[in-house]
This record gives sequence, C-alpha cells and structure tokens, in this order.
Amino acid sequence: MKSLSAALALAVPVYAGLRFPCSTLTTQRLDPVVQPGSNPSTHVHHIVGGNAFNASMTGDVASRATCTTCQMANDFSNYWTAQLYFKHPTNGSYIKVPVLPVQPLLGGSNGAQAGLTVYYTQFDLSKDNLKQQKITSFKPGFRMTVGSPTATSSQQVGLTYQCLSGGGRGAEMNDFPTKPCSGGIFTSHHFPACWDGKNLDSPDHQSHMFNTIKYNGFTNAPACPSSHPVRMPQVTYETTWDTSKFNSMWPSGGKNPFVWSFEGSGFGTHADYMFGWKGDELQKAMDKSECFYDGCGSITKQQMATANLCTVKDMVGEKVEGWLTQLPGMAM
Ligand SMILES: *[C@@H]1O[C@H](CO)[C@@H](O)[C@H](O)[C@H]1NC(C)=O
Ligand SMILES: *[C@@H]1O[C@H](CO)[C@@H](O)[C@H](O)[C@H]1NC(C)=O
Repeated sequence: MKSLSAALALAVPVYAGLRFPCSTLTTQRLDPVVQPGSNPSTHVHHIVGGNAFNASMTGDVASRATCTTCQMANDFSNYWTAQLYFKHPTNGSYIKVPVLPVQPLLGGSNGAQAGLTVYYTQFDLSKDNLKQQKITSFKPGFRMTVGSPTATSSQQVGLTYQCLSGGGRGAEMNDFPTKPCSGGIFTSHHFPACWDGKNLDSPDHQSHMFNTIKYNGFTNAPACPSSHPVRMPQVTYETTWDTSKFNSMWPSGGKNPFVWSFEGSGFGTHADYMFGWKGDELQKAMDKSECFYDGCGSITKQQMATANLCTVKDMVGEKVEGWLTQLPGMAM
C-alpha cells in the first residue's frame, strides 16, 4: 500500500467522489434487505447510518430518519456487514471482535466511534470520469448486497481482507489472514456500479446491479453493459476489526480463529446497502468533480461528536457481546 499512499500524496488535488466515516449505529440480528420483517434475522450484523434502521424498511428512508452516525449529515442510508467473532481455539466459545475507526491513508477518522468508512467514487481514487459519463444517484427504496454468506470459494473482485501490521495494510486477500495481524484485520467491500435502470431491488438483491470491475481496490468500472446501462457511484465499505487482543490466544501454527457471525467460510464475506440520502444530495455530490475528502462544499457535514449520539434501540434483545457458547442464531 506504500505505493498507493505515495501516489495519493503526489496527486494534488485529489478528487473522485466522497469518502466519510460513519460510527457504529448498532450491532444486532436484523437484515431489512435480505430478510425484511424477520426479527431476528439469521446472523448478527454491524450496522452504521441513519436511525430509520428497522427489521423492515420501505420507501424513502431519509423521510423517516432524524439522525445518522455518518459524517455527511443528509445521508440516512444504512450500511452493514456481518459481525466478526473470535472463536476460542480450545473451548469453542465466541466473543465479538471490537471495531476500530478506519484510519484512512490520508486524513483521519475525525472522531468516529468504531463504524466503517464509506466511499462513493466516480472513477477511482484520483480522478472522476464525469466528462465521459454521468454518475446517477440511487433512488429512494434502492437496496443491494454484494457477496454471499454461503460462498465457499472466491467471489467477485473487491471483497478482501488485509493483515494490518506496522502501519501497513499488506496484500489484499480473498480469505482470512492465516497468521496473527498485529494491527487487526481490514475488510473491504466494493459494490458493483452498473444498474438495470428499473428495479430498486431484485429477488437475490444483486441481479439489478452488474459488476464490470476486474481488479481489487479502487479501480474504474469499465463501461456498463446494455442490460445494466446506468452508471451509479461505486460504493465501498472499509472496516478495521481489532483482532489484536486475541492474538495471544491464537496458538502458533493454529488455524485462523476468526469467524463471521454466520460462521461459514472467509469467502462468505458480504455487505448490504440501503440507500437513504435526503433529496438530491447524493446526485449533487456526484455531479461535481471536486468533492473528495472535503465533502463537496455544498454537502452538509456534521461533527462526529454529534453523529456519535445517533442510536437505535435494541430490537432483538439478545446477548451479542461477551463470551458466548454459540453465535446468536446459530444452533450448535
Ligand atoms: C420499526 O418498525 C415498527 C413495526 O413496523 C414500527 O412500529 C416502528 O415505528 C419502526 N421504527 C422506526 C424507527 O422506523
Ligand atoms: C473459553 O475461554 C475463555 C477465555 O479464557 C473464557 O473466558 C470462557 O469462559 C471459556 N468458555 C468456556 C465455555 O469455558
């Protein structure tokens, strides 16, 4: 990652979309995209964003939310991934892995509490492609997922793990690191950027979108196909899982002791997106070429101290923290 960091530092000004921190909103067993109305859903999620988050979410989310844990004050979207757990190598108990705010390669986390960092890029990290192509915002009610908890082999590009150590992020891998990482485990989830132009969702929550990105990382999506002709922002999540305190319990040579909340394979890493920007705020940001890092001028930002006050109640009412003899919802 040194070369990317150096390249970014040289590329002044840098402009290519939005990047902002969102603090943790809640960690519970709900999934309004894949299992709407189910309380609880099958596995635990780590969720950030607006307080309209609920077991079921329809229509214009932004009209119901009154606060958001994201730095962009008019972004009431919800963003979530599975929660990571440590599975004790000898007694088999599980404990939730804490989340650290992402320390971006440039800039800081701005006072975020845990959470994840969200990107809406127009091309890649250092340029936009607005001269070639309009970037169309998602519409109210839009939702999508990337990846699948049942995957047992490598899925599409952009779903990666990195082993943080000594300030570096290391190589992007498709499965969990096989050795302890002194700085934690960094996960990335890149969503596809081509939309069919019609459906806010689809039965598998994926086929209304299409991925043309061929490589891991922030690379531009090649042209969208005629089946999915509308170019949307490239949405990415980055999360830092603080696995370091469990490294002393990882026996030398033993297998990776970290599991997602659905257990499964490391290839099962996945993420969910529920659009919830107010009005045309995201479209306005995507129409500009100067809006990376600084929030696009016209986009209203809030202090993370304010964002951190936004909460939702525990709607499931089960223990997800501390030592657990089984993962919530997972029968032995
Ligand atoms: C969540 O859904 C329940 C049941 O439909 C509803 O009563 C409640 O007001 C909703 N909460 C929010 C924050 O939208
Ligand atoms: C497993 O080990 C951990 C760490 O020592 C301990 O806190 C937990 O209670 C143990 N679980 C069981 C079921 O013994």
